[in-house]
Amino acid sequence: MAQHVKVMGVVGAGQMGSGIAQLAAAAQLQVFMVDVNETALTRGLNAVTSSFSRFVKKGSISQEQMDKSLALIKTTTSLEHLEPVDFVVEAVAEDESLKRRIFAQLDKIVKPSAVLASNTSSISITRLANSTGRPNQVIGMHFMNPPPIMKLVEVVRGMATEDSVFETTKALAERFGKTVSCSKDYPGFIVNRILMPMINEAFYAVMEGVGTADDIDNGMKLGTNHPMGPLALADFIGLDTCLSIMRVLYQGLGDTKYRPCPLLVQYVDAGWLGKKTGRGVYQHP
Ligand code: CAA
Repeated sequence: MAQHVKVMGVVGAGQMGSGIAQLAAAAQLQVFMVDVNETALTRGLNAVTSSFSRFVKKGSISQEQMDKSLALIKTTTSLEHLEPVDFVVEAVAEDESLKRRIFAQLDKIVKPSAVLASNTSSISITRLANSTGRPNQVIGMHFMNPPPIMKLVEVVRGMATEDSVFETTKALAERFGKTVSCSKDYPGFIVNRILMPMINEAFYAVMEGVGTADDIDNGMKLGTNHPMGPLALADFIGLDTCLSIMRVLYQGLGDTKYRPCPLLVQYVDAGWLGKKTGRGVYQHP
């Protein structure tokens, strides 16, 4: 049976973690948002405030609702403060050893009935679950960027995930106003299995001189009605994230069609990671 979640923890206050905390607060859950330092937490809270303000500006929520929701978010640099949560979503960088460490710590801190979810975009839920003593309560809850706007949540069941944990996660995503796609625990799940090869192919097209970045993006944006071209989308997601997902696909599925494009690797080597560093395929002043 699905558990009714009242208190939620979010680990990581970056673009995904802060967006998830915002959704939880908008659904009137008490939220604890954790990150390693105050600077990251302040940046995360500022992102939540500015996103809520956009909804207030266009009249979809009132200023009073925004203030009430913001007051539900508590920030902390200590995972220990997650002791009272019913459900926690880990949303740190796509680094498996870091995630495994966090899951092992959370397992010791949060109450036995709590669900441990990961927002990972491609790492095996079964392996993450194996770093805890409660693999039956571990699940993937993958939000799309930007979480407050995108309508989908991918829910990924690991080998041991219990039905009740799936039901709780699905019900929670629906409380956030999202539609759920259920994926098997397989490299890249559903969305990134299909999206990332398209982005990778766009880099190959630039590298081989098929067209300029603008030609390629306009081709896909205007020619296939995508809201953004694949290169602009890569900048938006982060080129490091795109590359790490391509590596997971290549290693996990073993087919050379998933080989990361050398040009994408070079951008990442140069530190040109997209919107978050001010430069990627495009300049972001
Ligand atoms: N918070 C609140 N509102 C926001 C927002 C945010 N963070 N971001 C955008 N909006 C709102 C704007 O206020 C605007 O609202 P109105 O139309 O009502 O005025 C609307 O969304 C559109 O925003 P903009 O006009 O600023 O810009 P846009 O039209 O280019 O839309 C976008 C921005 C929503 C990001 C759109 O370009 C888009 O949908 N892009 C594709 C995003 C996508 O594919 N995301 C998934 C990536 S894959 C992923 O996340 C998985 C993974 O693991 C990598």
